[in-house]
Amino acid sequence: MLLLGIESSCDETAAAVVRDGRDVLCNVIASQDELHVEYGGVVPEIASRAHVERMLPVLRRALADAGVGLGEIDAVAVGSRPGLIGSLVVGVAAAKALSWSLGRPLVGVDHVHAHLYAGLLEREAPAFPALGLVVSGGHTSLYTCDSILDIRRIGSTIDDAVGEAYDKVATILGLEFPGGPKLDRLAQQGDEQVHEFPVSRIAPDSLDLSFSGLKTAVLYAVRGVPQRWRSSPSRDAQGASGQERHGSERRATRFERDHHDLSEQQKADVAASFQRAAVRAVMLKLERTFERHPCRTLLIGGGVSANSRLRRELTEFADQRGLDLRLPKMPYCLDNAAMIAGLGHALLLAGRVDDQSLRAMPSSVQEMRQSG
Ligand code: KG4
Ligand code: ZN
Repeated sequence: MLLLGIESSCDETAAAVVRDGRDVLCNVIASQDELHVEYGGVVPEIASRAHVERMLPVLRRALADAGVGLGEIDAVAVGSRPGLIGSLVVGVAAAKALSWSLGRPLVGVDHVHAHLYAGLLEREAPAFPALGLVVSGGHTSLYTCDSILDIRRIGSTIDDAVGEAYDKVATILGLEFPGGPKLDRLAQQGDEQVHEFPVSRIAPDSLDLSFSGLKTAVLYAVRGVPQRWRSSPSRDAQGASGQERHGSERRATRFERDHHDLSEQQKADVAASFQRAAVRAVMLKLERTFERHPCRTLLIGGGVSANSRLRRELTEFADQRGLDLRLPKMPYCLDNAAMIAGLGHALLLAGRVDDQSLRAMPSSVQEMRQSG
């Protein structure tokens, strides 16, 4: 069975053709990094416009790479939630149009759940129950998985996602967006013992995570602890880096220095020390989760699963416990449509198909239920 997968939840326009949920015939990803780099982050309006421009070329390219005609596609799967709404609607509209015109089933797929499928591509089916870990730019969550369709979130970041922390720390160090992969490379030149950054633990019985304290600790290490100073409006107008109102007085936050004042080695030391703390925080939660929910398989997904240190520590963790570790191959770590087609296939086999009423949604179904 051939599924066409479509992904447009954030800033990657992607299409893939996958046979039987396993064999990836093509995996086309058009990144928009160059459009967002000057803003230091994804600008939703720019992202959705770029999806509109790129969707048809990406689809044509995917079919050509796979060597299949549209008529051979058995179903169309699309990442329909969660994500940027203006981005999601482009993929959903394309998928609906194709499904309608071809007379083939339409399957709406949860993007975050699809990340957990990434390690199943091009491999045999895993044993369940499994624990799932998604580490991306928008999500950092832990899941119990009784099957690939029976996924329950049991822990999540209460503030920044780990990929977001990587990107923000990269910006603090003067690296270009998206900084996660560049920070990973820089960290390999650094001494991780130089800075003792906090490893978030939250409450001992909680499976939630937090990365904002770590990010702030890095900010202060690079720029110095901010000096709060009273200032006149004219001094404010000359530009302080942050401002707050206290009654009728204005206060400004000034930092002593920034990344320009650090040597390359000092930056690498900050990167390495940050990476050690960030990965430790993830691994501590995974260890705690495993104690409570023993499993046979670890399903890992999301952009940060490309991180060299996290991959190393996860491999050691799984080896020590005899677990089947499903780390995605590199092309399936970041946002891609092969994982969408893969999970779409499992949904299709279970009869969980959609019709033309499928809607793009900014949140996951589970998140919406939890928030009432
Ligand atoms: O899964 P993804 O493509 O998008 C979301 O669904 O959010 O993940 C993108 C995130 C970005 O924050 C990026 O900086 C991060 O993954 N990332 C990495 C690495 N490669 C990508 N973070 C750390 N180390 C890497 N090697
Ligand atoms: Zn993603």
